Amino acid sequence: MHIKESMTFLKRFASSPRRIGSVAPSSKFLTRAMLDRVDWENARYIAELGAGTGVFTREIVRRARPDAKILVFEIDPALQKMIRDEHPRHEGLTLHSDAQELYRYMNENGIERLDFVISSLPFTVLPPKMTVRILNAVLKCLKPDGHFVAYQYSSIMKHVLKKKFSHMKTRFVMFNVPPAFVYDCWR
Ligand SMILES: C[S@@+](CC[C@H](N)C(=O)[O-])C[C@H]1O[C@@H](n2cnc3c(N)ncnc32)[C@H](O)[C@@H]1O
Repeated sequence: MHIKESMTFLKRFASSPRRIGSVAPSSKFLTRAMLDRVDWENARYIAELGAGTGVFTREIVRRARPDAKILVFEIDPALQKMIRDEHPRHEGLTLHSDAQELYRYMNENGIERLDFVISSLPFTVLPPKMTVRILNAVLKCLKPDGHFVAYQYSSIMKHVLKKKFSHMKTRFVMFNVPPAFVYDCWR
């Protein structure tokens, strides 16, 4: 990972720790854990929530089918700029700010429902109402067999996700700073 990317992330964390929720971008081990179970052949409509410096975004772009539409949400303007600068000509990728607006931007982009939603949002430190709004939006936007994958640094969200989704699996990724729980959820 580039030093510049790590430094930018750290600076954004210092300016807004609760919103950023982490001191470093995700490792390649967490990136693989988050993306390896996605059905890339059939995932046409994808959303990424809380893209940060874009570690997952670049891997999503690399793996997604050429006609995929990818909605990327990142609320921090400096991090948004990094993603825009890295993918200036990707026609299928649109960049948005607040993940609470997932439903609106899905509609505005002519998408009926999403196949896959990936989240890095720090749900346990975000305002609780925001977390509920975002999870409800994910449920509303996913196809009936849609897949939602999220990582968290604690197991606090486990029971919330278990209640909201019909099926959930948990994994643990040791090689990340800090180590993380990965939750695979289905509607
Ligand atoms: C823990 S960082 C993860 C960054 C990156 N995906 C990674 O794994 O390295 C969480 C990101 O979510 C963003 N974020 C927080 N609240 C958000 C919201 N309501 N909508 C969109 N992004 C948000 C933060 O700005 C931050 O970049």
